Amino acid sequence: MEKMAVPAKKIFQKQEDSWGFESFTTSALQEGFFHDILTTTRPVGPTITYDNKDFINFASINILDLHQEKDVLGHFHEAADTYGLTTGGSRVTQGVCKAHKEMETKLCRYVGKQRAISFASGLLANVGFINAMSCNFHFSESCNISNSDAVFILDRDCHWSLWKAASHLKFGKQLFSFRHNNPQDLDKLLRKLSVSHTKIIVIFESVYSADGSVAPMRELFDVCERYHALSYVDDANGFMIYGPQNRLFAEEFAQLRRATFVMVSFSKAVGMEGGAIAGPENYIHAFEVLSGTSLFTVAIQPPTASTICYIMDKLSACPSIMDSYLERSLDLRKRLTKLQFVLNDASSYIISVIIGNDEKAVSVYNEFLQEKMIVPMFRYPAVKPDHALIRIMLNAHHTQDQIDRLVDVLKRLQKKYDF
Ligand SMILES: Cc1ncc(COP(=O)(O)O)c(C=O)c1O
Repeated sequence: MEKMAVPAKKIFQKQEDSWGFESFTTSALQEGFFHDILTTTRPVGPTITYDNKDFINFASINILDLHQEKDVLGHFHEAADTYGLTTGGSRVTQGVCKAHKEMETKLCRYVGKQRAISFASGLLANVGFINAMSCNFHFSESCNISNSDAVFILDRDCHWSLWKAASHLKFGKQLFSFRHNNPQDLDKLLRKLSVSHTKIIVIFESVYSADGSVAPMRELFDVCERYHALSYVDDANGFMIYGPQNRLFAEEFAQLRRATFVMVSFSKAVGMEGGAIAGPENYIHAFEVLSGTSLFTVAIQPPTASTICYIMDKLSACPSIMDSYLERSLDLRKRLTKLQFVLNDASSYIISVIIGNDEKAVSVYNEFLQEKMIVPMFRYPAVKPDHALIRIMLNAHHTQDQIDRLVDVLKRLQKKYDF
């Protein structure tokens, strides 16, 4: 007898329970692991508008808020007229527009590298890099590459995108980690691994986004060079922020030129969207196909690429824009320290207030919401259990009154929740 087909809806209902998404979502919402995604109705900046209600925004990574300035918007509109809105495919199939090339050339000059390749996001740059550096590929007898014997060593606190990209590598064989910002630990690892491996790449970040810590770049490059290891620095949180001589961490950032590869994100200081890797000519050229995240997906939209060029020029020509931002952020850090808040100990522009207990941090986040403020909270699994923190991202266009309100609410919550 022919079997009756089970309706798709029934199969789904039966399977839904075993996949666990319903119970996961219900508990995650109840326990504050995440909340329903808010919908903005106006441009995001020092304030953010949800359903016509304004909140003061201390969450935006677009710290300079240049995207709302008249000249920047004007440039974007002009570039949209010139290049259109899309490249209409991946780089290899149809190429990129002049603005992409200009952006990559500017980046090379800025970081002192031979060639650069851009991606639709910084995350895709990281994923593409590890793909390309660990792949086996065979076009023909003469055109092939085999790097499955490469060894990757990551700082333990590296961004999710780097760990995710490396997840196909066997930990302890092709993939290793060293203690966060610890050159001695890296040295110990490299001393052992360099005996049996020739292709080693060390990956770390310049500025870490949760705790704002800055890598001891001089020491890390010393170790890499001692053992002839290549280096890849994810400079997503430092690009165009630190570097010039009179800024904080200038000495560390002067070392960045020693990196074999520098990766940047255009979503932070530049405040647009996209990412790029700059490095040696042949490697970067090959990444066009070997990264996968260039070949199999779209590029940055042309007006965005052109506006990235415009903003890079603007920030280079007017260093005071970033200087005064950094000065204000340092002032806020000093003010909070004076008020006895426990902060992340790096003095970078990322200001994290340590809360500790995970549940307490959820309550603090919700209290800020009631006060019409968005202050993002990091709790386990983003950080270790009961090492929760809130991260304050100052925006260049925050008024003094908005900052004062933040400090007042923080003081009240400090008393109430004892952090
Ligand atoms: C260290 C680091 N790398 C990569 C990324 C991803 O960059 P993008 O937002 O351009 O995808 C981020 C973003 O938060 C980051 O902090």
